[in-house]
Amino acid sequence: MAETPQEKPVRPSRKKWWWIIPLVAVGGALVTFGIVSLLLNIAEKKQEASHPYFQVVELTDTTVDPAVWGQNFPIQYEAFTKTAQMPDDEKVARTPTAEDPREFTALSKLEADPRLVTMWQGYAFSVDYREPRGHAYTLIDQLYTRRMLEFKQPGACINCHASTVVLMNNLGNGDTMAGWATMNKTPYKELATNPDAQHPVACIDCHEPQTMKLRVTRPAFIEGIKEYKASVGVADFDPNKDASPNEMRTYVCAQCHVEYYFKGEEKTLTFPWEKGLTVDDALAYYDEVGWSDFTHKLTGANVVKAQHPDFETWSNGVHARAGVTCADCHMPYKRVGASKVSDHWVRSPMKDNVNASCLTCHHETEAEMKERVQVIHDRYDHAKNISFDALDQLITDIEAAQKNGVATDLLDSARTHQRKAQFFLDYVVSENSRGFHAPAYTIRILNDVTDESRRGQLALLGHEMPASSTSTPATPSATPSATPSR
Ligand code: HEC
Ligand code: HEC
Ligand code: HEC
Ligand code: HEC
Ligand code: HEC
Repeated sequence: MAETPQEKPVRPSRKKWWWIIPLVAVGGALVTFGIVSLLLNIAEKKQEASHPYFQVVELTDTTVDPAVWGQNFPIQYEAFTKTAQMPDDEKVARTPTAEDPREFTALSKLEADPRLVTMWQGYAFSVDYREPRGHAYTLIDQLYTRRMLEFKQPGACINCHASTVVLMNNLGNGDTMAGWATMNKTPYKELATNPDAQHPVACIDCHEPQTMKLRVTRPAFIEGIKEYKASVGVADFDPNKDASPNEMRTYVCAQCHVEYYFKGEEKTLTFPWEKGLTVDDALAYYDEVGWSDFTHKLTGANVVKAQHPDFETWSNGVHARAGVTCADCHMPYKRVGASKVSDHWVRSPMKDNVNASCLTCHHETEAEMKERVQVIHDRYDHAKNISFDALDQLITDIEAAQKNGVATDLLDSARTHQRKAQFFLDYVVSENSRGFHAPAYTIRILNDVTDESRRGQLALLGHEMPASSTSTPATPSATPSATPSR
């Protein structure tokens, strides 16, 4: 409340000062007017910030093309198109062919670490696996990866690589769930020519067209998060109704940046969250349902391929617990004129965006922040190298033991150790932050990898080590709190 003149102490005994009262009253009123109009002005600016646009076109649930949305929201659209930009040192030039017309790709992770090739012997990932790049490439990279060109893949792949709202709707004649089921089991190559499947991730995948409210459009996430919430005692959770606005700033990303598998003949895209969001919960789930992605070509072990558990890993870190969302770091607010907009150039915060992404909360310099992240990456690399070598050696030893006719029960025991060691290692290297999203948790998983690998080697020699005395750490509160602690 602005001050009123009555609140000012006026000395009642000195009558000659009374004349000042009306003056103070007028002055006070002027000040009050000034403050009120300033507040109104700020409110107006805030209003502008939350609705910084003039409606030029009407958007509906059939408007896929982001350029059309861009007519109403030119600032967000312009940033969004920048996801096509790539720094030169991350590009690999190639000669376009009829089979693969791309002029450049991202760096190969297989060339950077050949142990990956050994780990995935017998599986498509051993022929082509690259660094991720911007959202503009989601569709084209999937179409032309050798994992697609040389292997038969289901339509379920497209869930996270194309804009699918209109596609699912049309495939199901208005029934999204029926359309989703059809999409999953249609061969990918057939789906790829569907006119509704021609856009990479788009505005419509994260926003309601009339209100621009954030929304989740992927059935697999809606099912998965419901299972997870049920495991922590929340029944019938529907993210589009029950999630807080802050949770939605993570959930829109968790539609895709998660570990998954294709269940059954229907190839239903499924997130293994029934038991919780830790790596232990995921493996326990796969063990229970008897899932393996492939049989290891060198050792005969039945193993599970992990892929990009960015959301699950973040859930086990301090930022999640403090309510810091994916969007806080990867789509920070930036000021454009009077508007405060979310930076739709989704990318690593570390190259040129530390200020907007981190320093809003951390009162350190940009250089100090980079240094802290570098230390996390270095420790991660160190721990990863030790555990990856151990896994590599286990694979070599099982392969040799098979040739040398070691007893089947010993081989089987070693293969069970490989299954766990390999899934855990894969989980960590397929996660995209190189340890940052949950540093201590990541090192803890790598510690298990080294242990399991050495146990497997000992098992081949007939030594079963007693179970570790440390029980598996329980999931901390994986549900982020609703309000960030800014
Ligand atoms: C649950 C969502 C989801 C599904 C389903 C999915 N992807 Fe992806 N894919 C992603 C995400 C997220 C990334 C970026 C992060 C990364 O590369 O780890 C990605 C990256 C990629 C890349 C670029 C990096 C690389 O691996 O070389 C290719 C190619 C790819 N996916 C192909 C496929 C194929 C083929 C399928 C079907 C077998 C598939 N994706 C299914 C989410 C998904
Ligand atoms: C519909 C699925 C989908 C959604 C939703 C999605 N992503 Fe992605 N994202 C991908 C895929 C696929 C790639 C890899 C594309 C490639 O390499 O061709 C990727 C790449 C990335 C990259 C790497 C960019 C680079 O320049 O290297 C970041 C960072 C990222 N996503 C963060 C996010 C964040 C944050 C959100 C939520 C605001 C989000 N993504 C939502 C599928 C998705
Ligand atoms: C506290 C900030 C923060 C939060 C919250 C956060 N990230 Fe990250 N993320 C980072 C940093 C830092 C890196 C490492 C980038 C680097 O080293 O270039 C990273 C890396 C990534 C990458 C790989 C980017 C690349 O260029 O290769 C992806 C993809 C990603 N994060 C997705 C997500 C998703 C999805 C969420 C939410 C579930 C999330 N992040 C939450 C800070 C954050
Ligand atoms: C991967 C998900 C994702 C995609 C794709 C996406 N957005 Fe957003 N958008 C967000 C998030 C997260 C916010 C922050 C919303 C919040 O916190 O309320 C946002 C906010 C907005 C806002 C509100 C103002 C602001 O900037 O915060 C507008 C307008 C908007 N987006 C337009 C677009 C347009 C236009 C496109 C397509 C060119 C698009 N978005 C694509 C996730 C997305
Ligand atoms: C919205 C606020 C917010 C943003 C944005 C944010 N952080 Fe944090 N960060 C926190 C909080 C809160 C903690 C936990 C502090 C604690 O518990 O002592 C934290 C902790 C950390 C830690 C310690 C991690 C650990 O596991 O111990 C690092 C490192 C870090 N942040 C780096 C970053 C970087 C790099 C960025 C930008 C990419 C960033 N943060 C963005 C709020 C934020």
